[in-house]
Amino acid sequence: MYVCLCNGISDKKIRQAVRQYHPQSFQQLRKFIPVGNQCGKCVRAVRELMQEELTSMPEYQEIA
Ligand code: FES
Repeated sequence: MYVCLCNGISDKKIRQAVRQYHPQSFQQLRKFIPVGNQCGKCVRAVRELMQEELTSMPEYQEIA
């Protein structure tokens, strides 16, 4: 499903970027994928997705 219509960014792409780059903020995420840089309507949904994905990732201690 597209989350950012202006840039054609799907929830899958956002989740993938969060898992790959581990951004600590929305601003950091935007360095890797172009979201929320035009109309800004997607910002809230992207933040929620990012938070959801970060909390679902296993802690480093669990992996090691
Ligand atoms: S929908 Fe993301 S910037 Fe417009």
